[in-house]
Amino acid sequence: MSAWLARRGARPVGVDISREQLATARRLQERHGLPFALHEGNAEHLSFPDESFDLAISEYGACLWADPRLWVPEAARVLRPGGRLTFLTNGTIMMLCAPDSDDELPTDRLVRDYFGMHRFEWPGAPEVEFHLGYGDWIRLLRGSGFEVEDLLELRPPAGATPIPPFDGIVGLEWARRWPCEEVWKARKRA
Ligand SMILES: C[S@@+](CC[C@H](N)C(=O)[O-])C[C@H]1O[C@@H](n2cnc3c(N)ncnc32)[C@H](O)[C@@H]1O
Repeated sequence: MSAWLARRGARPVGVDISREQLATARRLQERHGLPFALHEGNAEHLSFPDESFDLAISEYGACLWADPRLWVPEAARVLRPGGRLTFLTNGTIMMLCAPDSDDELPTDRLVRDYFGMHRFEWPGAPEVEFHLGYGDWIRLLRGSGFEVEDLLELRPPAGATPIPPFDGIVGLEWARRWPCEEVWKARKRA
């Protein structure tokens, strides 16, 4: 995402909590001759001064793996007034239909509660994910100083080709009927 922004003339700072992921990013920067700042840090508690950035963007990064009750206010803090926040994450309905087992795809049945959505853990897996219901996202964003500008609910086109490994997360037929991914767009109030 940062490479995409840098090629368009932005001055991105790629933030990741993982030293190994940053080492991979550095290798790719060298391979593609595209240097930009990389910063090891936790999106829940950033070391940047207030109002340092015009855009905060997360594509299945901190927006999914960090606690939104911490990273959303932190994104608001480091953005300038009028700055934009955009993040892409799993669709809320898909999370409600996602079985515990990695071997099973979401079906047309709700298998978990909508009320109280927040922390998701998977049996036998070390990772923790965070997903909120729509009202909770809107209240958290607005309460942190953002105006919600859009919610894009992504839908594959008719005749799309399933792409591994993503076809192991959700089936094409499912994704044609319900949103499996959401892009939230918000702007910090001036
Ligand atoms: C699925 S990857 C996607 C990241 C990015 N879009 C990319 O393509 O490289 C998720 C990343 O989020 C990072 N991450 C997880 N928790 C984080 C946190 N609290 N703060 C910053 N980065 C975090 C992980 O280390 C991982 O590199």
